[in-house]
Amino acid sequence: MTNEAVTVTSPHLDGDQHALVIYKSGPVTLRHLTDTEDDRQFVGSMMVAAFEQKLVHATSRGSLPDMRDSYASSLRGRQPIFYERHLIAEFEGEKAGSCAIRYHGDDELFQDREEDMAPVGCTDFCGLQLLQNASKDEVPPENCFLHYLSVDAKFRKKGIGKMLLNTAETDAKEKGCPVIFLWVASSNKAKKFFEDQGYEVKDMETRCGCGLWCMTGIRELNRMEKTLGLIADEN
Ligand SMILES: CC(C)(COP(=O)(O)OP(=O)(O)OC[C@H]1O[C@@H](n2cnc3c(N)ncnc32)[C@H](O)[C@@H]1OP(=O)(O)O)[C@@H](O)C(=O)NCCC(=O)NCCS
Repeated sequence: MTNEAVTVTSPHLDGDQHALVIYKSGPVTLRHLTDTEDDRQFVGSMMVAAFEQKLVHATSRGSLPDMRDSYASSLRGRQPIFYERHLIAEFEGEKAGSCAIRYHGDDELFQDREEDMAPVGCTDFCGLQLLQNASKDEVPPENCFLHYLSVDAKFRKKGIGKMLLNTAETDAKEKGCPVIFLWVASSNKAKKFFEDQGYEVKDMETRCGCGLWCMTGIRELNRMEKTLGLIADEN
């Protein structure tokens, strides 16, 4: 992979479409999230796509637009480092996919805000609380957590998922994290994608029979991880 890094301007100014370009190869450009309505809505919709099965279980299909707006709202007005944790891929200038990474301590830095909550009723609220409890996952020191990875269906199988993943791994290495991990439903076809990229199942979660199903709508979650060579080892 050739890495044509282009420095532009701050990635987090409202109304500023010029983000830091991290990587460019042929028609694909990878950059950080910016604090703009367009980017927030796009990443919100990618997050909903990645978590769709869980969100429908916790609420209903009709609540997905509210969930997208809620995620989009949670991306507004954050500190600069927050925007470095989200990558956006563009294909010929069109937004095509995104992923988010988390490091140890990010939970305290990027706290949930009441104003970002979706306007749901009591039942959906309880469903979302259960989902949140099931998903809570501390990121250990020297680990990078791939929070989600999603490519718009019309841009799949073009290598974009792989590029986003490679870029997240490079970021982890640069930050001195020898391990990157993620959680994926064992029934998700993407599990094979991660296996092909060198990820191995290290743990399995079912929460005593039907516990995980009740909370998430998923019967079994796999914790997959990959050991990364550190940049220092490569030099
Ligand atoms: C998983 C996902 C991100 C892959 O994105 P993508 O851009 O299509 O992947 P790529 O084009 O980079 O594919 C890389 C390789 O994986 C293979 N691959 C991609 N998706 C695959 C799938 N669903 N099942 C099996 N193999 C897959 C490709 O054929 C390709 O193989 P190659 O290297 O031999 O050519 C995409 O399918 C997606 O967004 N899925 C829905 C969201 C999701 O489930 N995310 C994961 C959990 S958060």
